[in-house]
Amino acid sequence: MATKTSPIGIIDSGIGGFSVALKMQQLLPHENLLYFGDGANMPYGNHSADEILTMTRYMLRFMEERGVKALLVACNTISCLIDRYRDDMSCPVLSVVEAGAEAVAQMPAKNVGVISTCFTESTKCYPNLIGQKAPDKTVISQGCPDLAHLIEFNLGNPGGQEIIEEDLKKNMDELVHQHKIDCCVLGCTHYPLVEKDIERLYPGLPLVDPAVQMAKTIGAYLEENGLKNDQAEKGTLDIYTTSSIEEYREKAAKVGLDPITSVQLYPAMKL
Ligand code: DGL
Repeated sequence: MATKTSPIGIIDSGIGGFSVALKMQQLLPHENLLYFGDGANMPYGNHSADEILTMTRYMLRFMEERGVKALLVACNTISCLIDRYRDDMSCPVLSVVEAGAEAVAQMPAKNVGVISTCFTESTKCYPNLIGQKAPDKTVISQGCPDLAHLIEFNLGNPGGQEIIEEDLKKNMDELVHQHKIDCCVLGCTHYPLVEKDIERLYPGLPLVDPAVQMAKTIGAYLEENGLKNDQAEKGTLDIYTTSSIEEYREKAAKVGLDPITSVQLYPAMKL
């Protein structure tokens, strides 16, 4: 049975969920975190729904076996499909898309831009959820075919910076200059990892990182259910990846995760 000291699980296709882990370490620093990034199969956004569901089941089993007290689906692409598995888990399952829609609903913005993977865009899960929570808002979505992949493999590499910026402009210029969006939801967890670049390209444009709301929601749940970890020291962060341990360790440090308790390899699922 889950207890106060049980970890909170975080799943993502790759390093994108580091942006969620970072917000968790900032806002709920005493919680133990268990991260799974399926680097061997990313980008998920270019897979079919059936494949995404199969890969997700693999990660859910991993988390269930380790007795997490809650699971953060820190991947927008998976979150669009997670309702199918919610009842199979013995802990609460939080969707990052739900968190993003909740965050936007509380903002005055009327013209909301959403950038995401093409899969997330195709499901219309952001416009649908925002529409339910705040029907007065207009949502304009943009699917970005290459951005998550470019960030996963170029983050922190000076040569790759220019490629990421070019791709950001390709996907965002029309939203900002023609649709005149009032804010932009970073609807893929990889994108907050380049938030500073987006701010530099589009100064003054409010950006919504759904992870902030996700941390608030999980914090409230733990408090209400007597599951908040009351240890005095900082929580642990154990990272599992199906790709390169060295790369994950280096990128985790680069995005500012601290502590990084361990980085371990887990066998990749063969599709
Ligand atoms: N980071 C993931 C998301 O939030 C997906 C990136 C991918 O693997 O395509 O959608």
